[in-house]
Amino acid sequence: MIYIKDLKNHVGETVTLKGWLFNKRSSGKVKFLILRDGTGYLQCVVFKGNVTPEVFELADHMGQETSFEITGKIKEEPRAIGGYEMDAVDLKVIGKSENYPITPKEHGVEFLIDHRHLWVRSRKQYAVLKIRHRVVKAIRDFFDERDFTLFDGPIITPNASEGTSTLFETPYFDLGKAYLTQSSQLYAEAGAMAFGKVYTFGPTFRAEKSKTRRHLTEFWMVEPEMAFYDLDDDMDLAEEFLEYIVETVLEDRKEELKILERDTTKLESVVRPFPRISYDDAVKILHENGRDFKWGDDFGAPDEATISNQFDRPVMVHRYPAEVKAFYMKRDPENPKLALAVDVLAPEGYGEIIGGSQREDDYDTLVDRIKEHDLPMDFFQWYLDLRRYGSVPHSGFGLGLERTVAWICGIEHLREAIPFPRLIYRNTP
Ligand code: 4AD
Ligand code: MG
Repeated sequence: MIYIKDLKNHVGETVTLKGWLFNKRSSGKVKFLILRDGTGYLQCVVFKGNVTPEVFELADHMGQETSFEITGKIKEEPRAIGGYEMDAVDLKVIGKSENYPITPKEHGVEFLIDHRHLWVRSRKQYAVLKIRHRVVKAIRDFFDERDFTLFDGPIITPNASEGTSTLFETPYFDLGKAYLTQSSQLYAEAGAMAFGKVYTFGPTFRAEKSKTRRHLTEFWMVEPEMAFYDLDDDMDLAEEFLEYIVETVLEDRKEELKILERDTTKLESVVRPFPRISYDDAVKILHENGRDFKWGDDFGAPDEATISNQFDRPVMVHRYPAEVKAFYMKRDPENPKLALAVDVLAPEGYGEIIGGSQREDDYDTLVDRIKEHDLPMDFFQWYLDLRRYGSVPHSGFGLGLERTVAWICGIEHLREAIPFPRLIYRNTP
């Protein structure tokens, strides 16, 4: 099989390619068929004099998204999409397609999302999902190359880790109820005590009532967890990680970023060091910019935008009021009202892409926190064991894949950053 992406090695040769009809134009004696094969796009020129009358007729009647096989000679053509062109000599239809619902005209987003199974064939969606794939590989490469061990958490869990308000419940045989995982962090902590540095990477579920463009009910999260890391080490890793991801996409997905008309200068400035500001500093920024914000509250999307707009690269906001953060976060020894937490806010108003912290490693303090948060002590016995047997300072963070992809691609809504989005009002197709 020859694919469009490899055509540079076949210039001057006659080859056969297979794919789908992306678009077509005709002008009298010539038909221009744009073939897409999942690796690229190729303009195939069907000239009346070069093919049989049947083939010429066929080229005229193929509907959008017809699958076909086409044979012809490849030449360089800088003006054509992808930079090559085929002079066709033969053509066979594999599967017909009539009245394809998604035409080159504009469609409403609800219509498109109803047809997500077809929409993923569109050029922009193709570009986004190609970038997503590259980001996933960059994530794995980054950790694998730095001696992290992949340590998968369970999807079915007995209790909440990130607060009880966003849990998906499922009946679980004689044991009563189980919940879909909100985060694999607690399990990653067990992994860090066994392997030193681990990461989990998988689907994550939040029954978020928020109907925003930044929330999915099912999304992917990668969670590194490191023994002997404090909050500063955690931030060092987070910035190195983000720089690596962005750099990789800039290098390897140029075509896709072009399709998306992404302003890549914005991505090129994502280099270390990232600004690190405390929650207190962030609140000052809000007040200086005329926002009405009360110390102690969590930032909303407009607050995050105001903060991140001060910087040309991701900003790390650390030391949040402990009240708004999870039970497992260690308090700042300098000020116990604060948690040793960090959120990384993406530039251009994309908001929080990473949430992380140093973890409470003291047994008695953690027991108190579990009580304060009214969490079921018996479920947390295994987690407390990590503090009973050789507890060490440790830290980690979680990066939301779709938020990261949406930011890198410069797209509005998270629903385009995953093949089949799950939203509060939608679980189809
Ligand atoms: O800030 P969160 O809730 O952090 C945790 O779950 C920690 N246990 C992570 C850790 O320390 N191991 O979520 C982490 C990230 C967010 O920054 C965001 O990027 C993403 O997960 N996220 C969502 N993405 C899409 N839709 C949602 N509903 C999301 N909720 C969180
Ligand atoms: Mg968070």
